[in-house]
Amino acid sequence: MGVVFVIVGITGDLAKRKLLPALYHLTKDGILKDYHVLGIGTRETTEKKILTEAKKFVSKPQTKAWEKLSSKFTYVRGDISKDEIYERLLLHLRHQQLSNKTQLIYYLATLPSFFPTITTQLAKHKLNKNAKIVFEKPFGEDLSSAKQINKEVKKVFPEKQVYRVDHYLGKELVQDVAALRFTNTVLEPAWNAKYIEEVQIILSEEVGVGTRGKFYDKYGALKDVVQNHMLQLLALVAMEEPKDMGSEAIRKEKARVLEVAKPAKAVLGQYKGYTKEKDVQSSSSTETLVALEARVLTKRWRNVPFYFLTGKNLKKKQTSIYIKFKNAACKLFEGVCPLQPNHLVIQIQPDEGFYLVLNGRAPSGGLVPVKMDFCHACTFGPNTQEAYENVFHNVLKGDQTSFVRSDEVESSWKFIEAIKKTKPHIYTHLPPKEAELTSWFLS
Ligand code: BG6
Repeated sequence: MGVVFVIVGITGDLAKRKLLPALYHLTKDGILKDYHVLGIGTRETTEKKILTEAKKFVSKPQTKAWEKLSSKFTYVRGDISKDEIYERLLLHLRHQQLSNKTQLIYYLATLPSFFPTITTQLAKHKLNKNAKIVFEKPFGEDLSSAKQINKEVKKVFPEKQVYRVDHYLGKELVQDVAALRFTNTVLEPAWNAKYIEEVQIILSEEVGVGTRGKFYDKYGALKDVVQNHMLQLLALVAMEEPKDMGSEAIRKEKARVLEVAKPAKAVLGQYKGYTKEKDVQSSSSTETLVALEARVLTKRWRNVPFYFLTGKNLKKKQTSIYIKFKNAACKLFEGVCPLQPNHLVIQIQPDEGFYLVLNGRAPSGGLVPVKMDFCHACTFGPNTQEAYENVFHNVLKGDQTSFVRSDEVESSWKFIEAIKKTKPHIYTHLPPKEAELTSWFLS
């Protein structure tokens, strides 16, 4: 047997929407061949039902690959705090003809409060040796719980066996940020406070909280996406050049940024009707929108504001990084000032790619902004790997580059805890009109 995946939380939303579809795609593409998936959950259900639900999230599933996945899947119901489930796991592994080359991968798609119990139990049953362990986000619910989880995990799994997921790091264009910065001599010399006016990181979503009201109401946008996805994007944009592209060098530079990133000002919002959503408290003051200004206290970024905007129930699903350069002096083109500032937009989703807007001369003699555009799908075809396929693929390869190190997680929680939270503004516009947002921000 090549690989055994043990997915804890297999009856949850994430497994259905992302994990099982990703395993299907890796099977179809021939990346996964000799493997078995053992799903552990608390619900009374069957393998067939779990897979039927997951199949809805695969577009045009191919019968052969789907059947292959189905033939490799077993469901076990049990309580992860009790010994019994680990004894059954041991029995199951004995049946799988493991060799010393077999990779054993635990994927914990559960609430973070279960992480210490599961890791401790795995160690108690001697199931931790040489295994890889993957923790789905969120890693903790605040700084002290994240520290506690790190402490407990470290006792039984050394950091080189630990993979803390931030699926944004598996996105194609996020993986492109370091390449874009460090392989293009035209960009890196200008990547600093002397030439950059501001950076905006935008993660907007059309969806509301859907069926995740209970979880979301406890977390809110700050903990749900700012603490992880958005701060990871900030770290990639702001880090110094790593000594190589290996996981340790990159994670070390990201960790340095997160240690000195500080929130300056935050405005929170809540979409109208949020408190009527399923499983949300009627008096909830949980934020579903965050507009935030942050600083990175390094020489490179002195006085450069980093603006974050994220929200649910906005008009458009979009994630992008907008780098606004300083305006050129107007002395040679007086009649057309002010010039449009150059800007670079890294479009993470949809329409993956990046573009640079420069000033060009129009035939009439005026200056116009012109766009130099890289469209990822146009160059490499439309079928890039989905983030969760990359997550699995990188765990299989043992590449920790796109996983978050323990110190990065803790610094990110520190950042969130330094934000002064105020009562959220109710927003009704889709999206909130820019003017509305600006006035909140300035008030
Ligand atoms: C998840 C958040 O981590 O990221 C969700 O919990 C959010 O609330 C999702 O919707 C966004 O991810 P993506 O890949 O759809 O942009």
